[in-house]
Amino acid sequence: MAIQRTFSIIKPDATKRNLTGAINAKIEAAGLRIIAQKRIHMTKAQAGQFYAVHAARPFYDELCEFMASEPVVVQVLEGEDAIATYRGVMGATDPAEAAEGTIRKDFAISKGENSVHGSDAPETAAEEIAYFFAGLELVG
Ligand code: CMP
Repeated sequence: MAIQRTFSIIKPDATKRNLTGAINAKIEAAGLRIIAQKRIHMTKAQAGQFYAVHAARPFYDELCEFMASEPVVVQVLEGEDAIATYRGVMGATDPAEAAEGTIRKDFAISKGENSVHGSDAPETAAEEIAYFFAGLELVG
C-alpha cells in the first residue's frame, strides 16, 4: 500500500476534556505523521457544510450543534495506508462497539460525542482536507 493522506478532527467532547495530546499520541504511535494541524471554532453553518452528506439523517442538527459547541483540532495525517490505519486507531463509531485500545473505546462518550472523525475514502479525504487547509499548509 502506498503513502496516503487522511483528514482528522479531534471533536469538542475531546478538546473540552484536554485529550488532544492523548489522542495524538495514539495516532503517532500507529506510525501516522501529523503534517498539518490547527485549532478552530466552527460556526454551525460551517459544520453543516462539512457534514452535508448527512443532511437527511435524524441526528444532523444535533451533530452540527455539537461540532460548533467548542473548539476542534483539524489535522492531516500521512502514512502507509493512512485512511484504513487511522480508522483502525479510531475504532467503531459507537464506543460500545469499539475495540480495546482504540481512541473511541478509551475516550468517546457516545455515538454522537465520539471524540474523533476520520475520512472514509481517498475522494472524501481529498475533499475534507481541501475544506480546511490550503496546499501550502501541508508540510509533511
Ligand atoms: P463522524 O465519523 O464524524 O461522521 C458522522 C458523525 O455522525 C459520526 O462521526 C458521529 O459523530 C455522528 N453520528 C453517527 N450516528 C449518530 C447517531 N445515531 N446519533 C448522533 N450522532 C451520530
